[in-house]
Amino acid sequence: MKKTCHHDVLVIGSGAAGMTVALQLADQYQVALLSKSAIKSGSTWYAQGGIAAVFDSEDSTESHIQDTLIAGAGLCHDDAVRYTVENGPDAIRWLVEQGVKFTLNHDNDDYHLTREGGHSHRRILHTADATGREVSTSLAEQVLQHPAIDVYEDHVVVDLITQADHDSSRIRCTGAYVLDNQKDRVCAFQAKVVVLATGGASKAYLYTTNPDGASGDGIAVAWRRGCRVANMEFNQFHPTCLYHPNAKAFLVTEALRGEGAYLRLPSGERFMDKFHPEGELAPRDIVARAIDHEMKRLGSDCVFLDISHRSPEFLESHFPTVKAQCLAYGIDITREPIPVVPAAHYTCGGIVVNKKGQTDLWNLYAIGETAFTGLHGANRMASNSLVECVVYGQAAAKAIKESIDNITDPEAVRPWDETRVTHSDEDVVISHNWDELRRFMWDYVGIVRTKKRLERAHHRVKLLQQEIQEYYSNYKITRDLLELRNLVLVAELIIRSAEQRKESRGLHYTLDYPETSPIAKDTIMVPINFAAQNIIVRKN
Ligand code: FAD
Ligand code: SIN
Repeated sequence: MKKTCHHDVLVIGSGAAGMTVALQLADQYQVALLSKSAIKSGSTWYAQGGIAAVFDSEDSTESHIQDTLIAGAGLCHDDAVRYTVENGPDAIRWLVEQGVKFTLNHDNDDYHLTREGGHSHRRILHTADATGREVSTSLAEQVLQHPAIDVYEDHVVVDLITQADHDSSRIRCTGAYVLDNQKDRVCAFQAKVVVLATGGASKAYLYTTNPDGASGDGIAVAWRRGCRVANMEFNQFHPTCLYHPNAKAFLVTEALRGEGAYLRLPSGERFMDKFHPEGELAPRDIVARAIDHEMKRLGSDCVFLDISHRSPEFLESHFPTVKAQCLAYGIDITREPIPVVPAAHYTCGGIVVNKKGQTDLWNLYAIGETAFTGLHGANRMASNSLVECVVYGQAAAKAIKESIDNITDPEAVRPWDETRVTHSDEDVVISHNWDELRRFMWDYVGIVRTKKRLERAHHRVKLLQQEIQEYYSNYKITRDLLELRNLVLVAELIIRSAEQRKESRGLHYTLDYPETSPIAKDTIMVPINFAAQNIIVRKN
């Protein structure tokens, strides 16, 4: 490949968000779609439960909005919630047009709707328990056969490129430096518009449901170029990740609880009723905290999720993936409970954007899990993420179409300079720091926090940052180094945001401030080089 690559639009990330925006633009524009590994390797592929949207005649837009607001613990932005929920059914119809096949009822051709925590109605469309696989596969098929989309797998963004605009004094985003991991060289991708769709940052924690690439790269590169980042303290912990020494990260979908599964202590006793009137279907933050509490109280390694009272036929048709995966680890879910623990799952905060997905930096958009739209507040409701990816992917595509013809081509950019760095002789520095970072984030910035723990984490993250920055300045970059450099920055943003929040709300629970403040306020971090090109107005 050439050392510089030109397209109308550069989309970074090939999950539900990135592929949506790429497909929506490709009828008119030339698009480059980047993925740091294979096209189907993001979190989207792993989604199990489904996609929330109002399709039942007994359900309503207002009810979906209310449930989202309640789960979000007073911090959701009403406009973002309404926008997403109102556009949800259209997003589903668009996915169906792309070939996504949702599970239908046996007795009629309506969609089968399942339930998850926080939802007062059945409103989750799904493809058995492998919804993400179906969405990824269908969208990737469309993307790969589209003549106007060039897909670049194994390409890792290093940093964004910015330039001063000819006609105004504004700084604009004009592309990115990208490591071609197979050829081991850095190329410049230039475009009139850049879209970050890089997913979340749950890899900051030792135990996570996320795939390896969830290292918050989009948040880090946007922050370095002057974009604000909000509500990073709200990292969601999924209550039920399979607990087994050989299982790296396998989620046991919340839809199991939606279909009647019980949470049990090692003694077999159920416990969720002590914590919330909705029991197992309480919002996710409450269930994860309850499990954490019981595990600490009893000194147990896990709790158990039991759906063995449903028929084997029902389990096979609704949860074939969970059933097969558990069986591979010797657990027969038709007969015995599944050992589970909470694990980091979703980044509710992210790059501040408006309803068009525009960031603070001109011509830079952010969509999907990397973005902060205001939808999720202090705790994302189950299955509200994929719908956000599609709704905001569509909104960003519309805004890009409206503006791109007035954007001039970027100026030529200097090639990446590697003359002052050498190959590292001590890669152990990277693996050691990865481990250390993720362990102290788990121990000190996890489900239950204290001032002291956050101070400890802050101190350590600063030391790590120095060491990693020094390493980055002296040695040739690799994917691991880039991810570590991003992750340590994102970890710092999480810790600083958590330190700023002097209350407990949703996913942020601290023993030093157990009460919820009467005033709900976002935590907005402003970089010293704040770009402020799109002037996003927020309610607080
Ligand atoms: P992703 O799908 O994570 O894609 C990110 C993309 O960015 C990837 O292609 C990656 O390679 C690329 N990328 C990242 N960094 C770089 C870089 N530096 N350079 C180049 N490319 C880069 N949500 C729901 O709504 N319903 C569910 O049922 C559900 N179940 C889930 C189950 C699991 C196990 C997990 C992990 C998540 C689940 N979620 C669910 C959450 C949801 O799947 C994600 O929030 C959503 O898929 C994120 O989509 P995305 O397009 O933003 O990012
Ligand atoms: C799950 O299936 O439990 C995950 C749903 C989600 O994260 O939205």
